[in-house]
Amino acid sequence: MFEDLILSNKTIKKRKSFNRKDNDKKVYIETYGCAMNFSDTEIVLSVLSDFGYNETDDINNSDVILLNTCSIRENAETRIYNRLKHLSAHKKKNPYKVIGILGCMAERLRKDLMEKEKFVDLIVGPDEYRKIPHLIDSLIETGEKGVAVQLSKVETYDDIIPIRKEGINSWISVMRGCDKFCTFCVVPFTRGRERSRKVDSIIKEAKMLFDEGIKDVTLLGQNVNSFNDDGNDFADLLGKAAKAVLGMRFRYSTSHPYDCSKKLIETMAEHDNVCNYLHLPVQSGSERVLKLMNRLYTMEQYMGIMNYAKKLMPGIGLSTDIITGFPAEREEDHKMTIDLLEEVEYDGAYTFAYSPRENTKSYRMTDDVPMEVKVRRLDEIIHVQRKVSARIYKNMVGRTEEVLIESNSKKSDDYLMGRTDCNKSVILPKGNNKTGDLVNVKIVKSNSATLFAE
Ligand code: 5AD
Ligand code: SF4
Repeated sequence: MFEDLILSNKTIKKRKSFNRKDNDKKVYIETYGCAMNFSDTEIVLSVLSDFGYNETDDINNSDVILLNTCSIRENAETRIYNRLKHLSAHKKKNPYKVIGILGCMAERLRKDLMEKEKFVDLIVGPDEYRKIPHLIDSLIETGEKGVAVQLSKVETYDDIIPIRKEGINSWISVMRGCDKFCTFCVVPFTRGRERSRKVDSIIKEAKMLFDEGIKDVTLLGQNVNSFNDDGNDFADLLGKAAKAVLGMRFRYSTSHPYDCSKKLIETMAEHDNVCNYLHLPVQSGSERVLKLMNRLYTMEQYMGIMNYAKKLMPGIGLSTDIITGFPAEREEDHKMTIDLLEEVEYDGAYTFAYSPRENTKSYRMTDDVPMEVKVRRLDEIIHVQRKVSARIYKNMVGRTEEVLIESNSKKSDDYLMGRTDCNKSVILPKGNNKTGDLVNVKIVKSNSATLFAE
């Protein structure tokens, strides 16, 4: 989820507290990939701010340039290699400028980056961010490049208060890593084993955010459903957080159906301030393909969770991730995925053509679905999903919905953008409303991704 967000921090306003007056070094950071990476960037900024760095939007005027990178699919990495070509010009202009690669690509491609991208000074994997200031210091002192790519079984950055952006939404990272080893996925290799933060520290952070004006928090992890702190599972954490910070809306991302318990669905239903929204990646509607993917659930189990969620929370917003053209996917498997979209009626789906990743199990399977077939299947899925989404959104017209206002609308300052409890975006006229307000609005129009209100 969120994979295709690419955002330089330029586009988001920073919290005023961040730029410390006495900090005189400037770091420019670009973040690619999933929400976890955006959350990690906030941790990196926090680590650096304790060592004299302020964030800057101006790449030309920076002392350090960092790219926080993503490896999930080949095109994510290609994009970053292309970006690196541009960055080499900065190094040529100013050889003292420090250029660093963070995140999944640093972890996965350290050797390649060291050998081929000579101008890169720092290569730091997701569990080594505390070392960045020291690596920069030692680079300046000795000229030695800094490489830190050890994966940790314990690092959760539990004690670091991330430097967040201005707004009413925020993330709290609750666990890191993944032990599921889906056969297509590099995450277990780039982010290591699962580990969870302490419940108390997460709740403390949520309370602090609420006091700072945050109204909507997403509890984040590669697979939040396998959260485990001393016997507290994710449902326990969610229930405790919802009870402790009643004015906060909680949601979470991302989930694996294997670990998504009935108890979790019941906890969602029980608390008014937990959003009735479930993102549950299915990847394929074919059980044969799910087995090849090592997804560990049957379609019956998956539908069991979805139907239970619908029963307990009528009108719940649902979304999923789909991969098309996995090795050995046949036309009838693809058809099953299409049928599933119609059956579940997701609000939306994040859809991807299969991209073989080195070291994963599926990399050794024959990638026998030609690219044009992958793309054709992807197009068909997008087309069907768009129709389903449009239908669901149209059914909302005429209803009154409670909307939390998040920001100005991108298209016009006369309008605001908010979100319903079921995670549907709503555009509404500004009137006397402002960001952070919870308002009841009547939905008057829709398309396949947005509602429009009076
Ligand atoms: N190829 C295509 N899509 C992938 N994803 C993960 N790995 C791959 C891959 N190798 C997708 C899955 C996952 C989402 C985050 O990215 O759908 O749920
Ligand atoms: Fe990757 Fe599967 Fe883990 Fe998700 S659950 S991060 S798809 S290995």
